[in-house]
Amino acid sequence: MSIVHLNGQNLPAEKACVPVLDRGFIFGDGVYEMIPVFGGRPFRLTEHLQRLENSLDEVRIPNPHTREKWAALIQTLIDENGDGDQSLYLQVTRGPAARDHALPENPAPTVFAMSNPLHPATTETLAQGIKAITLDDIRWARCHIKAISLLPNILLRQTALDAGAAEAILIRDGYATEGAASNLFVVFDEKPAGVLITPPKGPRLLPGITRDVILELAEAHGIDHREADIRHEDLARASEIWVTSSTKEILPVTTLDGEPVGDGKPGPVFRRMYALYQANKARLQAG
Ligand SMILES: Cc1ncc(COP(=O)(O)O)c(C=O)c1O
Repeated sequence: MSIVHLNGQNLPAEKACVPVLDRGFIFGDGVYEMIPVFGGRPFRLTEHLQRLENSLDEVRIPNPHTREKWAALIQTLIDENGDGDQSLYLQVTRGPAARDHALPENPAPTVFAMSNPLHPATTETLAQGIKAITLDDIRWARCHIKAISLLPNILLRQTALDAGAAEAILIRDGYATEGAASNLFVVFDEKPAGVLITPPKGPRLLPGITRDVILELAEAHGIDHREADIRHEDLARASEIWVTSSTKEILPVTTLDGEPVGDGKPGPVFRRMYALYQANKARLQAG
């Protein structure tokens, strides 16, 4: 039975209750974070808390806690949920209020957090890669906000699953932006050859923390990289495509829209970056 956090209290998940008039329940009015925990320590906590603050500011929910309070709350919950790697989910909604689109004058945000075991991709998945399909991005125009209202993302992911794929790569105005729950990286064999490319930050995509880690590792280890728009039609000539997120880490896409990506196997740039990412993680796990 997992222990969750709700409004200042840690308690068993099935004992945690939220009022039915909570705006998170009624409107999906809230934001969230997903923080990977390695060896009992939250990874890139400052960056995740910064992104949470940005999301809260954008949707005008007052931040209920200082950074110190967030850090303490998170660490206590990790400790209560045992050792090992975890995925720590944090959610802040605008709290309970009479149902009205207009913002309540004195909101009392609801703070919820839970932690679940983190399961890395299996050796088989890493060796074979995953299938993805491209889909029109049906989300709103402010995808940089980590909002809990994820209905479009859910439908996009399910469309991918129904097609036998693991992820949807989203297309907006002719450009590939990100996955339904991940960021996107592409390597081309030519023009520009061997360069790792990811679309620039902006309202069309979530500024992923894993995305930043990968760009930092590329910079530190001399892997040529750049932030640039990726045209939909150029995906067909990619030699490597990856999707990244805190829980998936880095996954090679080896089939896109039913066609092999490159030679249909995870590519050399992926293998190098994956090793760098795991070495970085192992250092954290060892403390
Ligand atoms: C739409 C979307 N883009 C990108 C990401 C990756 O972000 P991060 O690396 O911070 O997990 C996620 C993660 O859930 C996501 O939902």
